[in-house]
Amino acid sequence: MNVQENISLKPYNTFGIDAKARYWSEISSITDLKEALRSKIHPRLFILSGGSNMLITQDIDAHVLYINIKGKEIIKEDDDHVYLKVMAGEVWHDMVVWCLERDFGGLENLSLIPGRTGTAPIQNIGAYGIELKDTFVSCEAMAIDDGTIKEFTKEDCRFGYRESYFKNEGKGKYVITSVTFKLSKRNHNPNTSYGAINTQLEQWGIKEPSIQDVSKAVVAIRQSKLPDPEVLGNSGSFFKNPVLSKAKFETFISEHPTAKYFKVSDGSYKVPAGWLIEQCGFKGKRYGDAGVHKNQALVLVNYGNATGHELIGLAQKITEAVYETFGIAIQPEVNIIK
Ligand code: EPU
Repeated sequence: MNVQENISLKPYNTFGIDAKARYWSEISSITDLKEALRSKIHPRLFILSGGSNMLITQDIDAHVLYINIKGKEIIKEDDDHVYLKVMAGEVWHDMVVWCLERDFGGLENLSLIPGRTGTAPIQNIGAYGIELKDTFVSCEAMAIDDGTIKEFTKEDCRFGYRESYFKNEGKGKYVITSVTFKLSKRNHNPNTSYGAINTQLEQWGIKEPSIQDVSKAVVAIRQSKLPDPEVLGNSGSFFKNPVLSKAKFETFISEHPTAKYFKVSDGSYKVPAGWLIEQCGFKGKRYGDAGVHKNQALVLVNYGNATGHELIGLAQKITEAVYETFGIAIQPEVNIIK
């Protein structure tokens, strides 16, 4: 295991924040990970993967482990399904494309999500009607305290909307090393329930979409709305969509009848934070190098040299305006690193 000191994290977080890591090691194997956990180079460990769901606000005084363990393996299959084990460091979208090339179905709606496979379960990534949990079978993770590998079933992970065991009780205790998915090999069941997918497929004249068509539609929608982090620093949705109880929602919708909303299966309602933020006038606004994206108000962007503090300041301003206007407290979806 190679240890470097005081390296810039700018290339390793999609917000493009220029903070430094006190110590840094690239982890390319399970053995590297075990060795790094044992090394105790610094009392604090910081696990970094795609860096696509975090806002770094200061230099990281820790031993940063950059998880870059690669590999994919079909561990079981029958006529209908394949069980694919993917190591944590595989780039999510490249893995989705690899599956589509082999006609393995289930991940197509999650095309183009930034990040790596190992961090996908932490927030149960989701888009266009599908969440990671829908194809998830299990994951393996190394315990930080003793280096043992533990298997977590879907139930163990306690997935919710952008939530899991690893974001709550399990926080800081494990490093996910691989994820196993169950994917379809035939009789695929493309999910086009999300309106925007249907609209895109209709525009292309596609009536019976393949999983590859659904992926193409998702890629087109994402590219039209969401900024490419390679071009404009961002971390996808900065806030979660607030979930309102039926009673709170009824008051809200009677006061704001043009609001967009989705019914959640447990009888509550999700209101798009992007709509709330747009109503407060922030869409496309820029304050120095921190801003709100022009096509999707849920996404905060770094025009170049914004600091984590500037972006947090903007997030606070937005949170307060949304609360004053709608009485709804929106919560960040990205991890704020202090
Ligand atoms: N909307 C606005 N103004 C905006 C943005 C959105 O009015 O500036 C409205 C849209 O018109 C639409 C509704 O809000 O009626 C929902 O918008 P969209 O389909 O873009 O989805 P979202 O709720 O804003 C969520 C996820 C995204 C995911 C999309 C598609 C969260 C926090 N975000 O966004 O996930 O790609 O749905 O499924 O749940 C991410 O997590 O980083 C992410 C990008």
